[in-house]
Amino acid sequence: MVEKEQSVREKLAKYGQEHLLLKYDSMSENEKELLLNQILEINFEQILELYENTKKEIQFGEDKIEPIEYIDKNKLNENDRDKYTKIGEEIIKAGKLGFITMAGGQGTRLGHKGPKGTFKLIGEKTLFQLICETLIEGKNKYGVNIPWYIMTSRENNDDTVAFFEKENYFGYPKDCVVFFKQGELPMISEKGKILLDKDGFVKQAADGHGGIFEAIIKNNLLEDMKNRGLEWLFIGGVDNCLVKMCDPLFIGLTAENNYLAAGKSLVKANPAERVGVFCKRNGRPSVIEYTEISKEMSEMTDKNGELLYGEAHVLMNMFNIKALENLEKNKLPYHSAFKKAEFYDEKGNWIVPDSPNAYKFESFIFDAFSNLDKMLIMRVKREEEFAPVKNAEGTDSPETARKLYNDYIVNR
Ligand code: UD1
Repeated sequence: MVEKEQSVREKLAKYGQEHLLLKYDSMSENEKELLLNQILEINFEQILELYENTKKEIQFGEDKIEPIEYIDKNKLNENDRDKYTKIGEEIIKAGKLGFITMAGGQGTRLGHKGPKGTFKLIGEKTLFQLICETLIEGKNKYGVNIPWYIMTSRENNDDTVAFFEKENYFGYPKDCVVFFKQGELPMISEKGKILLDKDGFVKQAADGHGGIFEAIIKNNLLEDMKNRGLEWLFIGGVDNCLVKMCDPLFIGLTAENNYLAAGKSLVKANPAERVGVFCKRNGRPSVIEYTEISKEMSEMTDKNGELLYGEAHVLMNMFNIKALENLEKNKLPYHSAFKKAEFYDEKGNWIVPDSPNAYKFESFIFDAFSNLDKMLIMRVKREEEFAPVKNAEGTDSPETARKLYNDYIVNR
């Protein structure tokens, strides 16, 4: 322990982060050990690099950005539609499809206390339940138990699992539901200091849904997936109550045309809509996030007056298990977000900010697309598959999602 403490002190001195031991002396032996271990796990060089990157402007540099080709589901002829649907159905019936729901986010904008999936949207039905209902529908239709992996974070894992227990897994077979936690990264101040949390430990935040690849490997899920005979994994967010995960046409089209990954797109409502857009970056599939696209680029149109970068990425993607295996090996870039975060400053004062004061770092699942030579983009209808719950009020709020859900599901 003394040696460990010594090596931690040296490391902190080297990187100017000595304040992380501010509460050390008042901690129990057990807590001290935990804190030292937590600090030893930090990659300080990486933090330094991430901090330097916050000062750089986001730009595409030499990257060649172009619009990407897509297939419009609603323009397929009937023959193709039937053919690919049948192929997809066979894949599902053979038990080769699994689902992943990314539910590790904090859902700060919604202002709901607890995991976002536990938000009651339609009467007593929560987002988790609405998603589960579509899985049960698939299970009944195709006569197979479809494994459902749910990615949580340290912050919300226990609450999520407890919620599923309390709700008796909404009637879904419990042995088909697997929870796994994504990773975390320390938050830093504007001066590059790692934040210290209320409990005297390092303040960490979920590392973005791009952490999914690493988390799959760390939790030995590839083995679990293979043991269950899975070949395709549909990955969706927790906050879209119309997410259609069990979609034979999408699977058939992807598999039959030898793609290892696919994404559903829909027409961006207007240039300012807060959605990422699919594009080609240096010839490979990619997404430009809404926070990173320039106004000029978002407003560009083609000769028909349609947005040139108008295929919205809505977190409905599918990967072949072979692609998942390879993607983990490629490190994804981190994007920084400037957030409000309470913390102990270097003098031990507890700071409660009223405006953003700290950086959080996240990798995005869609940055992995650029490691693939190609992927299928299938355009679907917004009103059939997209009803996001992001904000407490206004656009993409419970009110708008409820209306979309009722229009499509209830009043159909
Ligand atoms: C996201 C997409 C955007 C897309 C839009 C559609 C990102 C970065 N951008 O924006 O391209 O057009 O949705 O609705 O995702 N999550 C985790 N772990 C994390 C962070 C998020 O599991 O560390 C999950 C959330 O629980 C949620 C989903 O990822 O299910 C989306 O996250 P969010 O940060 O809300 O993304 P948006 O800004 O809405």
